[in-house]
Amino acid sequence: MKILVINGSPRGERSNTLKVTNAFLDGMRTTAECDIEYLTIRNMRVEPCLGCFGCWTVSPGKCVIGDDMRGILAKMFAADLVVYSFPLFYYSLPAKLKALVERQLPTVAPFMTGQTTYLVNGGHPPRFRTHNRTLLISTCGFYPTDKSYNAVREQFKMICGDDGFDELFLGEGELFSRAPAKRRCDARLEVIKKAGAEYGRLGYITPETREQATANIFPPNMYAAMADKGWGRSLEDYRENDEEMIARVEKEGKKIETVY
Ligand SMILES: Cc1cc2nc3c(=O)[nH]c(=O)nc-3n(C[C@H](O)[C@H](O)[C@H](O)COP(=O)(O)O)c2cc1C
Repeated sequence: MKILVINGSPRGERSNTLKVTNAFLDGMRTTAECDIEYLTIRNMRVEPCLGCFGCWTVSPGKCVIGDDMRGILAKMFAADLVVYSFPLFYYSLPAKLKALVERQLPTVAPFMTGQTTYLVNGGHPPRFRTHNRTLLISTCGFYPTDKSYNAVREQFKMICGDDGFDELFLGEGELFSRAPAKRRCDARLEVIKKAGAEYGRLGYITPETREQATANIFPPNMYAAMADKGWGRSLEDYRENDEEMIARVEKEGKKIETVY
């Protein structure tokens, strides 16, 4: 199976999520033949969409921006499975990965008549039969992740169709790069590996394994205390910069108060 991993973390190779993705793929390798390619989009030229519709008018099927995106699309089409590996940013995709998703517009035709559903591809008919499967792997800083990923989930339902993608979303993501949490994180990565092995063998993650893979790593109170302490700063450290911001806002003619 040809697998394309799109690493959408601005941290590139140092991504927490990538550790989870790698463990998952290690598992998959044990049960399925995998030919894996990674794209680290932090190091690639992926410009935001210009909104010009040039891909429908000037050069139908081809974006007017000559960056790395056309090559990326070709790799996505060639893959059996596309894995989006990314951190959650403001309950959504990190900006450059969002740009990559938007830049898929040339792969659909603009027409609306005859469309029986507006639920996939922004409502436009796809011009190619693309890769069969999409898998979203993500970590976020908070816990738990049940509501945090609602926007991402709904977005991909609209893009891929309700059953057109699978997901593995984990909270407490920062633990994966913290030495004191290593023992628990290593244990968790073993479960993720098992999830990957199931995915390779069955094409899905069993509910029991998914539950183990996405459960809290530390009890919430303990994690929150550790996370807060991990910043090595107190609120007092923010004061100077707050004052500078207050002065700027007041110069704009508004009053603003600090809350914390
Ligand atoms: C700009 C920014 C926005 C973030 N937004 C959220 C968020 O909405 N919810 C959340 O739980 N964590 C949020 N986080 C935390 C990251 O999702 C978390 O640190 C993640 O594990 C980073 O993964 P990475 O190392 O793969 O990039 C945010 C981090 C940044 C830098």
